[in-house]
Amino acid sequence: MDSRLHLAARVAEIEPFHVMEVQTAARTLEAAGRDVIHMEIGEPDFPTPEPVLQAAREALATGHIYYTSALGLPELRRAIAEHYGEHYGVDVAPERVVVTAGSSAGLLLVMALLVNRDEQFLLADPGYPCNRHFVRVFEGEPVGIAVGPEERYQLSAGRIASRWTPRTRGVIVATPANPTGTMVARDEMAAIVDAVEDRGGRLVVDEIYLGLSYDAPPRSALALTDHAFVVSSFSKYFNMTGWRLGWVVAPERHVRDLEKLAQNLYISPSTLAQRAALACFAPATLAILESRRRAFQERRDFLVRSLRDIGFAIPVMPGGGFFVYADCSRFSSDSLRFCSEALAATGVAFTPGADFGSHRANEHVRFAYTVAIGKLEEGVRRLRGYLG
Ligand SMILES: Cc1ncc(COP(=O)(O)O)c(C=O)c1O
Repeated sequence: MDSRLHLAARVAEIEPFHVMEVQTAARTLEAAGRDVIHMEIGEPDFPTPEPVLQAAREALATGHIYYTSALGLPELRRAIAEHYGEHYGVDVAPERVVVTAGSSAGLLLVMALLVNRDEQFLLADPGYPCNRHFVRVFEGEPVGIAVGPEERYQLSAGRIASRWTPRTRGVIVATPANPTGTMVARDEMAAIVDAVEDRGGRLVVDEIYLGLSYDAPPRSALALTDHAFVVSSFSKYFNMTGWRLGWVVAPERHVRDLEKLAQNLYISPSTLAQRAALACFAPATLAILESRRRAFQERRDFLVRSLRDIGFAIPVMPGGGFFVYADCSRFSSDSLRFCSEALAATGVAFTPGADFGSHRANEHVRFAYTVAIGKLEEGVRRLRGYLG
């Protein structure tokens, strides 16, 4: 008997991450003694800052590692709210902050709250793949809107209006985005907020890369509306990927429902991670993180310049995050094959566009600048040799 008969149909529609397969192939090469340059990985190479590790050690020593409230430690919710005031100039009530098991759990809670069967959510193609899967898991219909360099790979109020149907429930926007690193300009975000709210829809804004903004001071969508769900994370800017900690700033009247969902889905976010994260906002930690942000910016500038130089088209400068989305059509119109052949030939690992949607995915690849600049230089040198 086909074992799939006993599985929920939705599972068949969740695609695996190609990047994981690239990573496995890269690790196999490494195990065989090859030197691999990892530009496929979406996590900072920097270790968790020492003050955060120290806070974790102290929490372990005192043994206060019991469940917390499903909404998170009150003092961490307060610290996150204060961070919005100090860093982004936005007044956020601590009661609106829901601490989650990574922004992934935050997105999961928000989608569980908002999506009914067959309701549509609009999102950018290319975009972060899990977002469409979260919609699907709750039997909704993710609607990818093809976006290109002319719109900085981002949704606009106009595109949202033109694709809105009676079944549309809301929109997910990521700024800065994965895989493109582009941001939604403030005026456009204001127009998006209006377009969604005028239609009675819900706006979800993924700001997990907002701390890693390079060209302009970061602006949170929370400055524009109290009705959106803004998702963020300790993973990227704060260098805490494996701790699994993030948060959602929700409209106040929905916090109780998110709390119920969190209680049932995972009880509470990790207590140890929360106690460690309390040290994230100390001046000493922020000084470390800001110097790392500048290092990322330097890597970005080098990588974009060098990839353009060897023939990749990068029509829009990524303004944040740590990815470069590059048009590889000069070399190949099959980016999956291009990535795997380039990896085998050069030991440089990067990710095919297929992970991020279907719009011109075969002609794009994503490079992550999550390795030191010396390694980026070596990666580019090898690719230059390979691509001629
Ligand atoms: C755009 C975007 N959103 C959300 C996530 C989930 O991150 P985490 O669950 O570690 O906060 C990622 C991870 O790569 C991402 O790129």
